[in-house]
Amino acid sequence: MTRTALVTGANRGIGHETARRLADLGFRVLVAGRDADACRDTAAALREAGGDAEALTLDVTDPAAGETLAGLAVDVLVNNAGIFPDYGVSVFDVAETTVRDAFEINFHGPLRIARALVPGMIERGHGRVVNLTSGYATLDGMGGTLTAYRTSKAALNALTCILAAECESRGDVKVNAVDPGWVRTNMGGPQAPRSPAEAAADVVHAATLPADGPTGRLLKRGEPVSWNQGN
Ligand SMILES: NC(=O)c1ccc[n+]([C@@H]2O[C@H](COP(=O)([O-])OP(=O)(O)OC[C@H]3O[C@@H](n4cnc5c(N)ncnc54)[C@H](OP(=O)(O)O)[C@@H]3O)[C@@H](O)[C@H]2O)c1
Repeated sequence: MTRTALVTGANRGIGHETARRLADLGFRVLVAGRDADACRDTAAALREAGGDAEALTLDVTDPAAGETLAGLAVDVLVNNAGIFPDYGVSVFDVAETTVRDAFEINFHGPLRIARALVPGMIERGHGRVVNLTSGYATLDGMGGTLTAYRTSKAALNALTCILAAECESRGDVKVNAVDPGWVRTNMGGPQAPRSPAEAAADVVHAATLPADGPTGRLLKRGEPVSWNQGN
């Protein structure tokens, strides 16, 4: 039976590469993004490469996103969409709106989408959720600046644990966070040591964990690591 994967922010960066790899593995991929034309182009390119893909216009900040997703049977959810809006900005200077925007996209988006899709996974007895997090979010070793990014991703880490706990003993539903390291994307910039392909391999690993794999964990390079492992 064909499994379905939904990847948010799938038109570029780590999300795009993850969508491509999941399509190569035989998943039907829902290419989710806020730019409808870009989603159509990405889905068309995946189909041209022999995959099964459909475009899904989805801004994760849309309060109606849950209704858009209602009724979709999704086996793998990759909460990849994210922003990194306050690099180098002091906690004393960051605008409140910047912090709110980061929470809206990096935390409320995944919460909204998980609430729409995970109950279906529990009903069907199987599912994988992967939340893209960052070493900047871990509490031990957390430095100054990046208040919006760090706190919104730390909240996402907490959500990962809460969701995993509520899914435990309710079928084979696993919820993990992946720290992809520093990656060469629009967000990471050209100096980053890791390629989107390397990061996507980590995400796909978490998206395809076997039944005896971990849940409620932070995964780095495919291995569970301490939630306190900071940058
Ligand atoms: N790059 C790194 O070094 C690094 C390190 C640790 C963690 N991460 C995490 O990995 C994830 C992907 O990062 P990346 O490096 O691939 O970043 P990227 O190249 O900047 O891509 C970000 C993606 O998020 C999408 N997005 C932003 N706001 C959205 C919204 N409101 N609704 C839907 N989609 C939205 C963007 O869509 P548009 O094309 O429409 O803007 C884009 O597809 C992020 O969660 C990031 O925090 C990245």
